[in-house]
Amino acid sequence: MSTTLDEIYWNAILARDTRANGKFWSCVKTTGVYCLPSCAGRPKRENVIFAQSRAEAERAGFRPCKRCRPDRYVSGDLPSRIADIDWARVGGNLRDNGWASLGRVLSDDECTALIKGYDAPDRYRSTVAMRRHGFGEGEYRYYAYPLPPLIADLRTQLYARVVPIARTWTARDYPADHAGYQKQCAARGQTRSTPLILKYGKGDHNRLHQDLYGDEVFPIQIAILLSQPGKDFDGGEFVMTEQSPRKQSRAMVAPLEKGFAIAFAVNERPVEGARGIYKVKMRHGVSEIRSGSRYCLGIIFHDAI
Ligand SMILES: [Fe+2]
Ligand SMILES: [Zn+2]
Repeated sequence: MSTTLDEIYWNAILARDTRANGKFWSCVKTTGVYCLPSCAGRPKRENVIFAQSRAEAERAGFRPCKRCRPDRYVSGDLPSRIADIDWARVGGNLRDNGWASLGRVLSDDECTALIKGYDAPDRYRSTVAMRRHGFGEGEYRYYAYPLPPLIADLRTQLYARVVPIARTWTARDYPADHAGYQKQCAARGQTRSTPLILKYGKGDHNRLHQDLYGDEVFPIQIAILLSQPGKDFDGGEFVMTEQSPRKQSRAMVAPLEKGFAIAFAVNERPVEGARGIYKVKMRHGVSEIRSGSRYCLGIIFHDAI
């Protein structure tokens, strides 16, 4: 008698086998959640269907289980994690709200290594004390070229995924790869690196702003939180506002956890109105950190003058 893949999966769930985590996801029809195979929950066999990826589970309408937190699970190398993101959903969220969650992109170890690297000065081209410029309270550092491999990989791989969305926003034919786009930045005198790491302590905050570094602006950027809310720090919410013509501003807060990323509009997003397309202005910032320390990575695709 042969064993079907479904039987192998079900046996892994019965055994709560952690080795099966990341290989498939179990979706429980009665509760509407999806789980890691090792989840302590005990669903009935007839209520469980299997998904090959988180994107597949979420497209089928399932939410991450609050008990085993499959959305926190990091598996595979960076290209496979980025490939697992539901980019069609991301494009839809960006179009409708100007921002989108990308889910978990970096592991605990990767976050820790980036935070440790904050104190290695030769990695950076400059350090900015936010108070001196009226940007808020806190400090950030721009990575120097050549970028650390993880930062370079994030920038090139994420660029390739968001460039089709950026093309629909601006009707501009951006190059398919980031190296090509950097040439366009250089042609406008923008050659300095913009990926940065931000460090906030108690009482720090970042005023609402836009990351513009010259005339050349790529319309979407990425932020990845490196610290865990509720554990490493409290407060420090990622806040965005949207200013539509003749309307009050709309405020939005993006839920983030350690290693989770969001994509958001740099300066404006297009909205389809009754009389054609108009633009709404977006700004972002960070609310006051009430305790602890909060580190965040910013991936901006255009370079700076
Ligand atoms: Fe920013
Ligand atoms: Zn679960």
